[in-house]
Amino acid sequence: MSAEPGRFLPLLTTHRTGRSPVTCEYRCGNQCSHPAPNTSDNEYFGDVVRSVVSRRGALRAGGVMAATAAGFAALSGTAAAEVPALAANPGRGNGHGRSGGSAVPGTDFAPVAPNTRDAVTVPDGYEQQVVIRWGDPVLPGAPEFDVNNQTAAAQAKQFGYNNDFVGLIPQDGSGKRNFLVVNHEYTTETEMFPEGTYDEANPTEEQVRIAWAAHGLSVVQADRARDGGLEVKPSRYNRRITIDTEFEVRGPAAGSDLLKTSADPTGTVVRGTQNNCAGGVTPWGTVLSGEENFHQYFAHGERVTDPGEVERLERYGLVSGETSRKWERFDKRWDVSQEPNEVHRFGWVVEIDPNDPNAKPVKHTALGRFKHEAANVKIARDGRVVVYSGDDERFDYIYKFVSNGRYKPGRSAHARRHNMALLDEGTLYVAKFTGNSPASEIDGSGRLPSDGEFDGTGEWLPLASGDESFVDGFTAEEVYVFTRLAADKVGATKMDRPEDIEPNPVNGRIYAALTNNTDRGASGEAGADEPNPRNGNKNGHVLEWDEDGTETTFVWRLLLVCGDPSAADTYFGGFDKSQVSPISCPDNVAFDGYGNLWISTDGNALGSNDGLFSVPVTGPNRGEVKQFLTVPVGAETCGPVVRDDIVLVAVQHPGEGGEPGSSWPDGGHARPAIVAVRKSDGGRIGA
Ligand code: FEO
Ligand code: CA
Ligand code: CA
Repeated sequence: MSAEPGRFLPLLTTHRTGRSPVTCEYRCGNQCSHPAPNTSDNEYFGDVVRSVVSRRGALRAGGVMAATAAGFAALSGTAAAEVPALAANPGRGNGHGRSGGSAVPGTDFAPVAPNTRDAVTVPDGYEQQVVIRWGDPVLPGAPEFDVNNQTAAAQAKQFGYNNDFVGLIPQDGSGKRNFLVVNHEYTTETEMFPEGTYDEANPTEEQVRIAWAAHGLSVVQADRARDGGLEVKPSRYNRRITIDTEFEVRGPAAGSDLLKTSADPTGTVVRGTQNNCAGGVTPWGTVLSGEENFHQYFAHGERVTDPGEVERLERYGLVSGETSRKWERFDKRWDVSQEPNEVHRFGWVVEIDPNDPNAKPVKHTALGRFKHEAANVKIARDGRVVVYSGDDERFDYIYKFVSNGRYKPGRSAHARRHNMALLDEGTLYVAKFTGNSPASEIDGSGRLPSDGEFDGTGEWLPLASGDESFVDGFTAEEVYVFTRLAADKVGATKMDRPEDIEPNPVNGRIYAALTNNTDRGASGEAGADEPNPRNGNKNGHVLEWDEDGTETTFVWRLLLVCGDPSAADTYFGGFDKSQVSPISCPDNVAFDGYGNLWISTDGNALGSNDGLFSVPVTGPNRGEVKQFLTVPVGAETCGPVVRDDIVLVAVQHPGEGGEPGSSWPDGGHARPAIVAVRKSDGGRIGA
């Protein structure tokens, strides 16, 4: 746990992911090329802290149930009839597996083959449309995009850069009028500005201000057109949220000394949001958005001398010297040696209410501070609100928050206010996963254990609730602001980059994408375990668990161990591997109206462009992965939305860092954009 001198030093690094070096630098500050910041030996501390927790009675729910098929089904009120008992599942194992029957509703399309085209490729019988691109007008007075004449004032009224999360929120029962809410995760200045006009060592102030305006979110009116497509419209609801937009800090850490700065002595008002990756639409019609790799925007960690603060900064991955974007030259708040608490004001889940263009967005401290990939809500049977969120870093954790109060149905302004306040009071937990197979059978190769599945039980370990901390040595405020360090202490399970986590609205189960972790099993790092069963994990996996939401125990299993289906280390839910599409690096998840899981990928390590895939999760076709589309060369597939008759994806960083790059979507300068896909006959997707 001690801070290691030298971890702030610039490191000579080897590029180790499927992404281009430019994407790695600008999206996450090369975090995969640095040592993973989780150096905790949390099993040891876990033993100590769990005894403290037990004394408080916080784990009253008691022992962990045996991971049996009966246990898995029994935890869900709806799942027992839908999921074949493990003993009766003929597809277990890495052999030929189950063959499907006829095509599953929602996934009946001819799969797109892996490819490296500079295009969005969709199945035969489907058509596509670019809905909105970086630089397109959002607010009144916005000029048309001109790559050679970019200004901060124009960008603040235009669609931002590098779209990630997409939310399509109906404004009425017909679904004709919608809010389209989009995250603009990060800027890549070397791609945004015409060649020869951006000096990485010396950006101009105007270029920096353009980047500030290109971050954040966009809210745009997007209505169904006569031809069934999606049409962006001028509207009083249209809004840009940027690095300059004021946010209200809410929840138990609001006003904490840890959040006070010279510009905000109250610790309750933060200017801006950044690195908003994925998110979720709440049942009350707002959007939750995760501030992810916030650390890379803060300079000069090496000038901090307080050992406690050094340890905290290192745990969040801060490195030394200037940042890639040099923002600290134009606003001292991006320099931790000058404004030490500003970094504590990022790394939160933020909430935007698209129904009220004047509403101040919120940062929710009760959900903890880490590299939030996203946040998605499940309403438990008793009405309490459960929010799931992954911390996207190698060897980091999966969290949930359970509210004290209960959900009020409906989307009225009154219901929205009530439900947004539910996220202020509740309990924050972190997940511990235990396998049910002997450790000797989990050898890191991906070979299935003798019981035929990677599966087991889990516990939710409480971290804090309101002003009460459950972690020895941490105040409640410290738990919320330094959540990673608190989770280290209670013995959370180190996961392979937990990304999007979402409840399936049809079967109630929770699905988590674990993108990859090539450091699993490396010298000095954690080795394979049953929930992360491959050393040097290049292709990622998908985890499924069953809970109503308020329990502190659950049963889990891996749905997919991704990669080349012909490789021995992959598993497709027991389905015949000769009949599936290759899939690598699962990132975002979504569900169609039938309850099929849809997965978008980031950083395909199999030589193809990234894509969007469908997979049934019940019945004889469980595990039948089919590729629905691919995105242009160099791009990542983000923000999938799957509705009955339309699919939306965000094409992020097309061509980034590659030669010759991309000219998608219009020829000429590449522009991140949102794409809608429909069936040419207007019919139901996959049916
Ligand atoms: Fe921004 Fe975890 O991807
Ligand atoms: Ca097992
Ligand atoms: Ca992501």
